[in-house]
Amino acid sequence: MTDITTTATTETTTASPSGIAPTAADTTITDAAPTSDSSTTDTAHPAHPMHKVLSFVRRSGRLDARLQRAWDNYADDYLLDINAGAGSLDVRPGFTLDRDYVRRTWGNDNPLIVEIGTGQGENVVAAAASRPDENFLALEVYDPGVAHTLLLAGKQGLTNIRVAQVNAPELLKVCADGILAEVWTFFPDPWPKKKHHKRRIVQPELAGEVRRALVDGGVWRIATDIEDYALHVHEVMDGLDGWRNEGGVTVSLPTGHVGKGNADLAADMPHADFAESARFEGRVLTNFEKKGIAAGRVIHDFTYRRA
Ligand SMILES: C[S@@+](CC[C@H](N)C(=O)[O-])C[C@H]1O[C@@H](n2cnc3c(N)ncnc32)[C@H](O)[C@@H]1O
Repeated sequence: MTDITTTATTETTTASPSGIAPTAADTTITDAAPTSDSSTTDTAHPAHPMHKVLSFVRRSGRLDARLQRAWDNYADDYLLDINAGAGSLDVRPGFTLDRDYVRRTWGNDNPLIVEIGTGQGENVVAAAASRPDENFLALEVYDPGVAHTLLLAGKQGLTNIRVAQVNAPELLKVCADGILAEVWTFFPDPWPKKKHHKRRIVQPELAGEVRRALVDGGVWRIATDIEDYALHVHEVMDGLDGWRNEGGVTVSLPTGHVGKGNADLAADMPHADFAESARFEGRVLTNFEKKGIAAGRVIHDFTYRRA
């Protein structure tokens, strides 16, 4: 169980990840790791009601020599200087991601695609490399993931990608209306225990901010290899005003939730049909997707269009 309480400072964060890991953020993180193989128990203390419910656990930000070198070499080129302070994962008060900022940062007016939770960055960097006429923004909280994304982008000398080390919902809140062409959330942390489902990043509040930030007709693409998360996505998104589920594939899912270690019980639950999408061709196979496939799990793809 982790319990980290931190406060923001006023510095910014492009310098070194070592200043980021153990200290700041306007966040209090209380309880277990999000992975399905977590060894933590179900006895975590409930977060204080005033504290944000976070979709991640702050982990050590220690980098090996290669990733530290990548950070030192490429942070100035790619890492946005928008944090509330050194070590903070919040966005600096007053910052807005608007057209003017896009022009100044990417140097053009091309469509902007944001990926939430980019992990090692394989997908967002591959997309940026293959789609030079679009701009990309990678959102990731984990130091080694950020550093690896900087490394991949820097090695290829890409100019249409930037990285922000911030809590993604905070960034969405400060996006100007209609500034984003697409938002991608691939293989979000599953938070398998029932009491942690509220920490899943796909939530109605985030959906509201994503919708506001998307251009008319823009899409939110989501993918998961966790069946219970697929049901969660349908529950959050399918009934929300202002979205159209563009899925053309019918998928049968259990209509009840299972908790950690109980996924097998789902097979005996009543099922219903849901609309999902064919695999998004613009996504490369990351380690998370490979692991899901290797474990025999079905990949669920979703395309929600701002209606
Ligand atoms: C299971 S990984 C998947 C990574 C990547 N999308 C892939 O498919 O390889 C989920 C990632 O989301 C990141 N993440 C979780 N909550 C986040 C948040 N609130 N803001 C930014 N990143 C977050 C985690 O640090 C982790 O790297």
